[in-house]
Amino acid sequence: MYNLARSLLFCLDAERAHDISLTAIETAYRTGLNPLLATRPKPLKTSAFGIEFPNPVGLAAGLDKNAAHIDALASLGFGFIEVGTTTPRAQPGNPKPRMFRLPEHDAVINRLGFNNGGVDALVANAERARFDGVLGINIGKNKDTPNEKAIDDYLFCLERVYARANYVTVNISSPNTRGLRDLQEEETLRRFIGEICAAGERHAAKHGKRKPILLKIAPDLGETELDSIADVLLASSIDGLICTNTTIDRNAVAGHRHANEAGGLSGKPVFEKSTEVLRGMAERLDGKLPLVGVGGIFSGADAATKIEAGARLVQFYTGMVYRGPALIGESVDAIRALPARKAA
Ligand code: FNR
Repeated sequence: MYNLARSLLFCLDAERAHDISLTAIETAYRTGLNPLLATRPKPLKTSAFGIEFPNPVGLAAGLDKNAAHIDALASLGFGFIEVGTTTPRAQPGNPKPRMFRLPEHDAVINRLGFNNGGVDALVANAERARFDGVLGINIGKNKDTPNEKAIDDYLFCLERVYARANYVTVNISSPNTRGLRDLQEEETLRRFIGEICAAGERHAAKHGKRKPILLKIAPDLGETELDSIADVLLASSIDGLICTNTTIDRNAVAGHRHANEAGGLSGKPVFEKSTEVLRGMAERLDGKLPLVGVGGIFSGADAATKIEAGARLVQFYTGMVYRGPALIGESVDAIRALPARKAA
């Protein structure tokens, strides 16, 4: 059924198709037709950073930026949902068109630029949802906030989302907000993570409950940069790491008519790069921090490869565009079939 819907959706502009798909998923949920969209996977309990997940397959950030569709998306069988990126104030994002499909490569390029309704609107939506599963909230900074003041935006969002989130993702790896990725530089990151974690501890004391904080990094990092990020993380009280965001590298899609569009490339072309970063960070962190593997998952085998490379949990976004919700159950089943899982 998704293949039919996909042929129709792919006739439309990518962002319009995205909006229509979300409306369709929401309508199916509200009318009780959602079981037609996907068979819910059998549970595959997984624990990470003190949270028990019904299964290890989650929705990656960016698809539900304002947390407006949590219940409908959760009904498809995801083991957790990450919403956002959200920023302190609402902002329109970049001018359209800003999202492009590259079907020949099973890929998407986006330069949305954190278009969102602001953190208070996101929290209000999340509070209205019935969902009582694992909700991650991904936070960022406004476009017009200079990098020297970026920390203020993250601290503001952290405070606002703390009560509602089950975990919080600190996104410093989107290529669509100028200078954001510079926060990954060692000394800047050390100070930045130090302040975020200290604020997290204060909120934990105030709320009587500690919420894990995760960092999300880019796939475009060299070995030395990965070394320094690992050092910073190991010396901090951060709870986990998400590998990775979209890539600015266009080698894998060179020659495509959209290849030179600015923005982040996701989907199949990012799989290898992103899995390499995941594997490299798993080695460096040596089991001391749980990892979330995201980037180019298009099949159950891809999801299993991320787990074998060191991920405890996986997420996808572009796979939803090309494969639809069937990818959720397929991923859960492939992870369940891994020899290490069977032996556990
Ligand atoms: C994203 N991604 C993303 N990530 C994030 O941390 N905050 C965000 O707001 C967004 N927005 C966003 C929009 C669109 C249109 C796409 C395709 C992606 C990145 C996403 O969460 C994921 O890390 C990458 O896309 C790689 O995974 P996939 O898409 O290959 O499964």
